[in-house]
Amino acid sequence: MRKIVTLLAGLLAVLSLSAQPRRPDAPLPKWEGLAETPQMGWNSWNKFATDISEDLIKATADKMVELGLVDAGYVYLNLDDGWHGERDEQGFIHEDPVKFPSGIKALADYVHARGIKLGIYSDAGTNTCACYAGSNGHEYQDAFTYASWGIDYLKYDWCYTQNLNPVGAYTTMRSALKRAGRPILFSICEWGSNKPWEWAAEVGHSWRTTGDIGAHFLADPITYDENGRPRWRSLGVLEIIDINEPLRAYAGPGHWNDPDMLEVGNGLSDAENRAHFTMWCMMAAPLILGNDLTNMSAETLAVITNKDVIAIDQDPLGVQGLRLRKDGDLQYWFKPLSDGAWAFCVLNGGPDDVTVALDWEALECKDELSGRSTQFAKVNYQAKDLWNAKAKPFTTRVKGRKRGQTVGARTSVVVPSHDVVTYRLTPVL
Ligand code: GLA
Repeated sequence: MRKIVTLLAGLLAVLSLSAQPRRPDAPLPKWEGLAETPQMGWNSWNKFATDISEDLIKATADKMVELGLVDAGYVYLNLDDGWHGERDEQGFIHEDPVKFPSGIKALADYVHARGIKLGIYSDAGTNTCACYAGSNGHEYQDAFTYASWGIDYLKYDWCYTQNLNPVGAYTTMRSALKRAGRPILFSICEWGSNKPWEWAAEVGHSWRTTGDIGAHFLADPITYDENGRPRWRSLGVLEIIDINEPLRAYAGPGHWNDPDMLEVGNGLSDAENRAHFTMWCMMAAPLILGNDLTNMSAETLAVITNKDVIAIDQDPLGVQGLRLRKDGDLQYWFKPLSDGAWAFCVLNGGPDDVTVALDWEALECKDELSGRSTQFAKVNYQAKDLWNAKAKPFTTRVKGRKRGQTVGARTSVVVPSHDVVTYRLTPVL
Protein backbone atom coordinates (compact mmCIF):
# COMPACT_ATOMS: atom_id res chain seq x y z
CA MET A 1 0.00 0.00 0.00
CA ARG A 2 2.76 2.40 1.03
CA LYS A 3 4.51 1.65 -2.28
CA ILE A 4 1.41 2.52 -4.26
CA VAL A 5 0.98 5.81 -2.34
CA THR A 6 4.62 6.73 -3.00
CA LEU A 7 4.25 5.85 -6.67
CA LEU A 8 1.10 7.94 -6.98
CA ALA A 9 2.73 10.88 -5.22
CA GLY A 10 5.70 10.63 -7.60
CA LEU A 11 3.42 10.51 -10.61
CA LEU A 12 1.48 13.54 -9.42
CA ALA A 13 4.70 15.47 -8.86
CA VAL A 14 5.87 14.69 -12.42
CA LEU A 15 2.47 15.61 -13.86
CA SER A 16 2.28 18.89 -11.99
CA LEU A 17 5.82 19.79 -13.07
CA SER A 18 5.20 19.11 -16.74
CA ALA A 19 1.82 20.86 -16.57
CA GLN A 20 3.43 24.05 -15.31
CA PRO A 21 3.13 26.72 -17.97
CA ARG A 22 6.24 28.64 -18.99
CA ARG A 23 6.34 31.84 -16.97
CA PRO A 24 5.30 34.58 -19.36
CA ASP A 25 8.44 36.57 -18.59
CA ALA A 26 10.88 33.64 -18.94
CA PRO A 27 13.45 34.27 -21.68
CA LEU A 28 12.95 32.00 -24.68
CA PRO A 29 15.68 29.49 -25.56
CA LYS A 30 17.72 29.69 -28.74
CA TRP A 31 16.88 27.72 -31.88
CA GLU A 32 18.48 24.31 -31.49
CA GLY A 33 19.97 22.11 -34.19
CA LEU A 34 21.00 24.93 -36.53
CA ALA A 35 24.78 24.60 -36.22
CA GLU A 36 25.55 21.02 -35.23
CA THR A 37 28.70 21.54 -37.31
CA PRO A 38 30.19 25.01 -37.86
CA GLN A 39 28.13 27.11 -40.26
CA MET A 40 29.43 27.62 -43.80
CA GLY A 41 28.62 30.40 -46.24
CA TRP A 42 29.61 33.76 -47.67
CA ASN A 43 29.44 37.29 -46.25
CA SER A 44 29.74 40.62 -48.04
CA TRP A 45 31.89 42.55 -45.53
CA ASN A 46 35.52 41.52 -46.07
CA LYS A 47 35.50 42.36 -49.78
CA PHE A 48 32.67 44.82 -50.36
CA ALA A 49 32.12 46.59 -47.01
CA THR A 50 28.90 48.66 -47.42
CA ASP A 51 29.15 48.70 -51.21
CA ILE A 52 26.51 45.99 -51.66
CA SER A 53 23.44 45.62 -53.84
CA GLU A 54 20.76 43.27 -55.02
CA ASP A 55 22.73 42.65 -58.23
CA LEU A 56 25.89 41.68 -56.32
CA ILE A 57 24.01 39.30 -54.02
CA LYS A 58 22.15 37.65 -56.90
CA ALA A 59 25.37 37.24 -58.89
CA THR A 60 27.03 35.76 -55.79
CA ALA A 61 24.14 33.34 -55.31
CA ASP A 62 24.42 32.21 -58.94
CA LYS A 63 28.17 31.67 -58.53
CA MET A 64 27.69 29.72 -55.31
CA VAL A 65 25.62 27.23 -57.28
CA GLU A 66 27.68 27.29 -60.50
CA LEU A 67 31.05 26.78 -58.77
CA GLY A 68 29.79 23.92 -56.60
CA LEU A 69 30.09 25.92 -53.39
CA VAL A 70 26.58 25.06 -52.25
CA ASP A 71 27.31 21.38 -52.85
CA ALA A 72 30.53 21.79 -50.85
CA GLY A 73 28.46 23.00 -47.88
CA TYR A 74 28.45 26.79 -48.20
CA VAL A 75 24.72 27.29 -47.79
CA TYR A 76 24.43 30.73 -46.14
CA LEU A 77 24.66 33.94 -48.16
CA ASN A 78 24.93 36.76 -45.65
CA LEU A 79 24.43 40.48 -46.06
CA ASP A 80 26.63 42.43 -43.68
CA ASP A 81 26.45 46.11 -42.74
CA GLY A 82 24.93 48.63 -45.17
CA TRP A 83 21.74 46.97 -46.47
CA HIS A 84 19.61 49.30 -44.35
CA GLY A 85 17.26 52.06 -45.33
CA GLU A 86 15.22 54.03 -42.78
CA ARG A 87 12.82 53.04 -40.03
CA ASP A 88 9.22 54.02 -40.76
CA GLU A 89 6.87 55.86 -38.38
CA GLN A 90 6.00 52.62 -36.59
CA GLY A 91 9.67 51.82 -36.18
CA PHE A 92 9.87 49.07 -38.79
CA ILE A 93 13.18 48.85 -40.63
CA HIS A 94 13.30 48.88 -44.44
CA GLU A 95 16.03 48.02 -46.92
CA ASP A 96 17.92 50.68 -48.86
CA PRO A 97 15.58 51.24 -51.84
CA VAL A 98 18.43 52.09 -54.20
CA LYS A 99 20.68 49.14 -53.33
CA PHE A 100 17.78 46.67 -53.03
CA PRO A 101 14.98 47.97 -55.29
CA SER A 102 13.09 44.65 -55.31
CA GLY A 103 13.29 44.32 -51.54
CA ILE A 104 14.95 41.79 -49.24
CA LYS A 105 11.95 39.46 -49.33
CA ALA A 106 12.32 39.06 -53.10
CA LEU A 107 16.05 38.52 -52.62
CA ALA A 108 15.33 35.78 -50.06
CA ASP A 109 12.98 34.12 -52.55
CA TYR A 110 15.70 34.32 -55.21
CA VAL A 111 18.38 32.64 -53.09
CA HIS A 112 15.98 30.09 -51.55
CA ALA A 113 15.02 28.96 -55.06
CA ARG A 114 18.71 28.06 -55.53
CA GLY A 115 19.02 26.04 -52.31
CA ILE A 116 20.74 28.88 -50.45
CA LYS A 117 19.79 30.50 -47.14
CA LEU A 118 19.85 34.26 -46.63
CA GLY A 119 21.58 35.98 -43.71
CA ILE A 120 21.33 39.54 -42.47
CA TYR A 121 23.22 41.82 -40.10
CA SER A 122 22.25 44.10 -37.27
CA ASP A 123 23.67 45.54 -34.07
CA ALA A 124 22.64 45.44 -30.41
CA GLY A 125 23.27 49.17 -30.06
CA THR A 126 21.58 52.27 -31.39
CA ASN A 127 23.66 52.12 -34.59
CA THR A 128 25.57 49.57 -36.60
CA CYS A 129 29.33 49.96 -36.90
CA ALA A 130 28.85 51.74 -40.25
CA CYS A 131 26.25 54.00 -38.57
CA TYR A 132 23.01 52.57 -39.97
CA ALA A 133 20.06 51.91 -37.64
CA GLY A 134 20.80 49.41 -34.85
CA SER A 135 18.22 47.14 -33.21
CA ASN A 136 18.32 48.64 -29.70
CA GLY A 137 14.70 49.09 -28.62
CA HIS A 138 13.47 47.39 -31.80
CA GLU A 139 14.60 43.82 -31.17
CA TYR A 140 11.22 42.08 -31.44
CA GLN A 141 10.11 44.27 -34.31
CA ASP A 142 13.31 43.54 -36.24
CA ALA A 143 13.20 39.82 -35.53
CA PHE A 144 9.64 39.70 -36.87
CA THR A 145 10.63 41.70 -39.94
CA TYR A 146 13.55 39.33 -40.65
CA ALA A 147 11.31 36.27 -40.20
CA SER A 148 8.66 37.76 -42.51
CA TRP A 149 11.32 38.38 -45.16
CA GLY A 150 12.50 34.74 -44.93
CA ILE A 151 15.84 35.42 -43.26
CA ASP A 152 17.77 32.36 -41.96
CA TYR A 153 20.81 33.85 -40.18
CA LEU A 154 21.52 36.95 -38.10
CA LYS A 155 24.96 38.37 -37.36
CA TYR A 156 24.53 40.74 -34.41
CA ASP A 157 27.24 43.32 -33.79
CA TRP A 158 28.28 45.38 -30.75
CA CYS A 159 28.88 48.99 -31.85
CA TYR A 160 27.17 51.95 -30.12
CA THR A 161 26.04 49.84 -27.16
CA GLN A 162 26.99 52.44 -24.51
CA ASN A 163 26.08 50.90 -21.13
CA LEU A 164 24.21 47.86 -22.41
CA ASN A 165 24.76 44.59 -20.62
CA PRO A 166 26.01 42.11 -23.24
CA VAL A 167 24.34 39.02 -21.76
CA GLY A 168 21.05 40.90 -21.54
CA ALA A 169 21.29 42.46 -24.99
CA TYR A 170 22.12 39.23 -26.80
CA THR A 171 19.58 37.26 -24.75
CA THR A 172 16.85 39.74 -25.73
CA MET A 173 17.58 39.23 -29.42
CA ARG A 174 17.75 35.46 -28.94
CA SER A 175 14.27 35.52 -27.38
CA ALA A 176 12.98 37.82 -30.12
CA LEU A 177 14.24 35.47 -32.85
CA LYS A 178 12.65 32.50 -31.12
CA ARG A 179 9.39 34.39 -30.68
CA ALA A 180 9.39 35.38 -34.37
CA GLY A 181 9.01 31.68 -35.09
CA ARG A 182 11.41 31.14 -38.00
CA PRO A 183 14.62 29.16 -37.35
CA ILE A 184 17.38 31.79 -37.55
CA LEU A 185 21.00 30.97 -36.80
CA PHE A 186 22.27 33.54 -34.29
CA SER A 187 25.88 34.66 -34.80
CA ILE A 188 27.15 36.78 -31.91
CA CYS A 189 29.68 39.43 -32.88
CA GLU A 190 31.01 41.30 -29.85
CA TRP A 191 34.66 40.57 -30.67
CA GLY A 192 35.33 38.59 -27.48
CA SER A 193 35.15 41.81 -25.43
CA ASN A 194 32.93 40.30 -22.73
CA LYS A 195 34.17 36.70 -22.81
CA PRO A 196 31.09 35.36 -24.66
CA TRP A 197 32.54 31.83 -24.51
CA GLU A 198 31.62 31.91 -20.79
CA TRP A 199 27.93 32.78 -21.29
CA ALA A 200 26.87 32.52 -24.92
CA ALA A 201 26.49 28.76 -25.50
CA GLU A 202 22.81 29.03 -24.58
CA VAL A 203 22.36 32.34 -26.37
CA GLY A 204 23.81 31.96 -29.85
CA HIS A 205 25.27 29.42 -32.25
CA SER A 206 28.70 31.06 -32.46
CA TRP A 207 30.51 34.03 -30.98
CA ARG A 208 33.40 36.05 -32.31
CA THR A 209 36.48 35.56 -30.18
CA THR A 210 38.59 38.39 -31.64
CA GLY A 211 38.58 41.80 -33.26
CA ASP A 212 38.27 42.12 -37.03
CA ILE A 213 40.46 40.10 -39.34
CA GLY A 214 42.38 41.83 -42.16
CA ALA A 215 43.74 40.28 -45.35
CA HIS A 216 47.26 39.81 -43.97
CA PHE A 217 49.02 36.78 -42.53
CA LEU A 218 51.33 38.56 -40.07
CA ALA A 219 50.48 41.21 -37.49
CA ASP A 220 50.42 44.82 -38.70
CA PRO A 221 52.47 47.19 -36.54
CA ILE A 222 50.69 49.10 -33.76
CA THR A 223 50.54 52.83 -34.44
CA TYR A 224 49.39 55.64 -32.10
CA ASP A 225 47.20 58.72 -32.58
CA GLU A 226 48.13 62.26 -31.49
CA ASN A 227 46.85 61.51 -27.95
CA GLY A 228 49.09 58.47 -27.67
CA ARG A 229 46.22 56.00 -27.99
CA PRO A 230 46.76 52.92 -30.15
CA ARG A 231 44.91 53.23 -33.47
CA TRP A 232 42.41 50.58 -34.52
CA ARG A 233 44.04 47.92 -36.65
CA SER A 234 42.81 44.67 -38.15
CA LEU A 235 44.31 41.40 -36.94
CA GLY A 236 46.46 39.06 -39.00
CA VAL A 237 45.82 35.33 -39.41
CA LEU A 238 48.60 34.23 -37.03
CA GLU A 239 47.48 36.64 -34.27
CA ILE A 240 43.92 35.37 -34.47
CA ILE A 241 45.07 31.76 -34.16
CA ASP A 242 46.90 32.63 -30.93
CA ILE A 243 43.79 34.28 -29.44
CA ASN A 244 41.35 31.56 -30.50
CA GLU A 245 43.43 28.50 -29.64
CA PRO A 246 43.14 28.58 -25.81
CA LEU A 247 39.32 28.74 -26.02
CA ARG A 248 38.81 25.27 -27.47
CA ALA A 249 37.08 23.81 -24.41
CA TYR A 250 34.16 26.23 -24.85
CA ALA A 251 33.27 25.13 -28.41
CA GLY A 252 31.12 22.22 -29.49
CA PRO A 253 28.09 21.26 -31.59
CA GLY A 254 25.65 24.19 -31.66
CA HIS A 255 28.06 26.70 -30.08
CA TRP A 256 31.31 27.57 -31.82
CA ASN A 257 34.23 29.90 -31.32
CA ASP A 258 34.28 32.26 -34.31
CA PRO A 259 37.75 33.62 -35.16
CA ASP A 260 36.12 35.85 -37.84
CA MET A 261 35.36 35.37 -41.51
CA LEU A 262 37.78 34.12 -44.13
CA GLU A 263 40.13 36.36 -46.10
CA VAL A 264 40.98 33.58 -48.56
CA GLY A 265 41.18 35.11 -52.05
CA ASN A 266 41.53 38.68 -50.80
CA GLY A 267 45.22 39.16 -51.52
CA LEU A 268 47.04 36.52 -49.46
CA SER A 269 49.50 34.30 -51.33
CA ASP A 270 48.32 30.83 -52.39
CA ALA A 271 50.31 29.31 -49.51
CA GLU A 272 48.78 31.77 -47.02
CA ASN A 273 45.28 31.09 -48.35
CA ARG A 274 45.88 27.38 -47.82
CA ALA A 275 47.31 27.87 -44.33
CA HIS A 276 44.54 30.27 -43.25
CA PHE A 277 41.80 27.96 -44.54
CA THR A 278 43.36 24.85 -43.00
CA MET A 279 43.80 26.47 -39.60
CA TRP A 280 40.16 27.62 -39.54
CA CYS A 281 39.19 23.98 -40.26
CA MET A 282 41.53 22.67 -37.56
CA MET A 283 39.84 25.11 -35.13
CA ALA A 284 36.30 24.00 -36.10
CA ALA A 285 35.56 27.61 -37.06
CA PRO A 286 32.55 28.83 -39.02
CA LEU A 287 33.70 28.93 -42.67
CA ILE A 288 32.32 32.18 -44.02
CA LEU A 289 33.94 33.14 -47.32
CA GLY A 290 34.70 36.82 -47.82
CA ASN A 291 36.06 37.11 -51.36
CA ASP A 292 34.53 38.12 -54.68
CA LEU A 293 33.03 34.90 -56.00
CA THR A 294 32.39 36.45 -59.39
CA ASN A 295 36.11 36.98 -59.93
CA MET A 296 38.29 34.35 -58.31
CA SER A 297 41.41 32.41 -59.31
CA ALA A 298 41.37 28.66 -59.88
CA GLU A 299 43.86 28.35 -56.99
CA THR A 300 41.50 30.11 -54.56
CA LEU A 301 38.57 27.97 -55.71
CA ALA A 302 40.68 24.85 -55.15
CA VAL A 303 41.43 25.94 -51.58
CA ILE A 304 37.85 26.68 -50.54
CA THR A 305 36.45 23.51 -52.14
CA ASN A 306 38.97 21.00 -50.79
CA LYS A 307 36.51 18.41 -49.53
CA ASP A 308 39.00 16.57 -47.31
CA VAL A 309 39.95 19.75 -45.50
CA ILE A 310 36.34 20.91 -45.18
CA ALA A 311 35.56 17.49 -43.68
CA ILE A 312 38.00 18.29 -40.84
CA ASP A 313 36.00 21.40 -40.01
CA GLN A 314 32.66 19.65 -40.39
CA ASP A 315 33.56 16.50 -38.48
CA PRO A 316 30.52 15.55 -36.36
CA LEU A 317 32.60 14.99 -33.21
CA GLY A 318 32.82 18.78 -33.08
CA VAL A 319 36.06 19.08 -31.12
CA GLN A 320 38.16 22.18 -31.81
CA GLY A 321 41.73 21.17 -32.62
CA LEU A 322 44.65 21.66 -30.27
CA ARG A 323 48.12 23.02 -30.70
CA LEU A 324 50.43 20.33 -29.42
CA ARG A 325 53.59 22.40 -29.72
CA LYS A 326 54.87 25.72 -30.92
CA ASP A 327 58.59 25.66 -31.73
CA GLY A 328 59.47 29.18 -32.88
CA ASP A 329 57.66 29.70 -36.17
CA LEU A 330 56.46 26.09 -36.37
CA GLN A 331 53.18 24.91 -34.91
CA TYR A 332 52.02 21.29 -34.61
CA TRP A 333 48.25 20.79 -34.51
CA PHE A 334 45.95 17.79 -33.98
CA LYS A 335 42.17 17.47 -34.20
CA PRO A 336 40.40 14.27 -33.12
CA LEU A 337 37.81 13.08 -35.65
CA SER A 338 34.70 11.00 -35.20
CA ASP A 339 35.88 7.76 -36.79
CA GLY A 340 38.99 7.26 -34.64
CA ALA A 341 41.05 9.27 -37.09
CA TRP A 342 42.97 12.50 -36.50
CA ALA A 343 43.70 15.54 -38.56
CA PHE A 344 47.32 16.59 -38.19
CA CYS A 345 48.98 19.67 -39.56
CA VAL A 346 52.22 21.59 -39.31
CA LEU A 347 52.00 25.36 -39.81
CA ASN A 348 55.07 27.36 -40.74
CA GLY A 349 54.60 31.02 -39.82
CA GLY A 350 58.22 31.90 -40.60
CA PRO A 351 59.97 33.40 -43.65
CA ASP A 352 61.88 30.24 -44.64
CA ASP A 353 60.87 26.78 -45.81
CA VAL A 354 61.62 24.22 -43.07
CA THR A 355 62.22 20.47 -43.21
CA VAL A 356 60.27 18.89 -40.36
CA ALA A 357 60.98 15.45 -38.88
CA LEU A 358 57.91 13.25 -38.68
CA ASP A 359 58.90 11.43 -35.50
CA TRP A 360 55.44 10.25 -34.57
CA GLU A 361 56.25 8.99 -31.09
CA ALA A 362 57.72 12.39 -30.27
CA LEU A 363 54.48 13.87 -31.62
CA GLU A 364 52.28 11.76 -29.35
CA CYS A 365 49.08 13.71 -28.66
CA LYS A 366 46.97 13.20 -25.56
CA ASP A 367 43.82 15.31 -25.70
CA GLU A 368 42.16 15.66 -22.31
CA LEU A 369 39.15 17.47 -23.79
CA SER A 370 38.07 14.56 -25.99
CA GLY A 371 39.71 11.88 -23.83
CA ARG A 372 41.51 10.62 -26.94
CA SER A 373 45.20 9.99 -27.53
CA THR A 374 47.01 9.08 -30.72
CA GLN A 375 48.98 6.17 -29.20
CA PHE A 376 51.48 6.22 -32.02
CA ALA A 377 53.51 3.48 -30.32
CA LYS A 378 50.57 1.07 -30.55
CA VAL A 379 48.36 2.27 -33.38
CA ASN A 380 49.47 2.40 -36.98
CA TYR A 381 47.88 5.16 -39.05
CA GLN A 382 47.73 5.70 -42.75
CA ALA A 383 48.64 9.32 -43.48
CA LYS A 384 46.96 10.98 -46.44
CA ASP A 385 48.32 14.34 -47.57
CA LEU A 386 45.23 16.54 -48.00
CA TRP A 387 46.82 19.28 -50.10
CA ASN A 388 48.93 17.14 -52.39
CA ALA A 389 46.79 14.58 -54.16
CA LYS A 390 49.86 13.20 -55.94
CA ALA A 391 51.69 12.32 -52.69
CA LYS A 392 51.45 8.62 -51.88
CA PRO A 393 49.78 7.82 -48.56
CA PHE A 394 52.21 6.38 -46.03
CA THR A 395 51.98 4.76 -42.62
CA THR A 396 53.15 6.19 -39.32
CA ARG A 397 54.90 3.02 -38.08
CA VAL A 398 58.07 1.63 -39.55
CA LYS A 399 57.20 -1.79 -40.92
CA GLY A 400 60.69 -3.01 -41.70
CA ARG A 401 63.73 -2.23 -43.76
CA LYS A 402 64.42 -3.21 -47.30
CA ARG A 403 67.90 -2.68 -48.74
CA GLY A 404 68.60 0.02 -46.18
CA GLN A 405 65.32 1.83 -46.90
CA THR A 406 62.49 2.41 -44.44
CA VAL A 407 59.36 0.75 -45.76
CA GLY A 408 55.95 2.24 -45.15
CA ALA A 409 57.11 5.25 -43.14
CA ARG A 410 58.04 8.74 -44.07
CA THR A 411 60.54 10.52 -41.87
CA SER A 412 60.50 14.14 -42.92
CA VAL A 413 58.56 16.68 -44.91
CA VAL A 414 59.20 20.23 -46.16
CA VAL A 415 56.79 22.85 -44.83
CA PRO A 416 57.11 25.95 -47.02
CA SER A 417 57.05 29.46 -45.55
CA HIS A 418 53.53 30.66 -44.55
CA ASP A 419 52.12 27.29 -45.53
CA VAL A 420 50.92 24.04 -43.98
CA VAL A 421 51.26 20.33 -44.54
CA THR A 422 48.06 18.56 -43.56
CA TYR A 423 47.29 14.88 -43.13
CA ARG A 424 44.33 12.78 -42.24
CA LEU A 425 45.63 9.96 -40.05
CA THR A 426 43.35 6.94 -40.31
CA PRO A 427 43.99 3.90 -38.08
CA VAL A 428 45.06 0.86 -40.10
CA LEU A 429 43.20 -2.20 -38.87
C1 GLA B 1 32.32 45.13 -37.11
C2 GLA B 1 32.34 43.61 -37.32
C3 GLA B 1 32.71 43.31 -38.77
C4 GLA B 1 31.71 43.97 -39.70
C5 GLA B 1 31.63 45.46 -39.43
C6 GLA B 1 30.50 46.12 -40.19
O1 GLA B 1 33.58 45.67 -37.24
O2 GLA B 1 33.23 43.00 -36.44
O3 GLA B 1 32.76 41.92 -39.00
O4 GLA B 1 30.44 43.38 -39.53
O5 GLA B 1 31.43 45.74 -38.04
O6 GLA B 1 30.43 47.50 -39.96
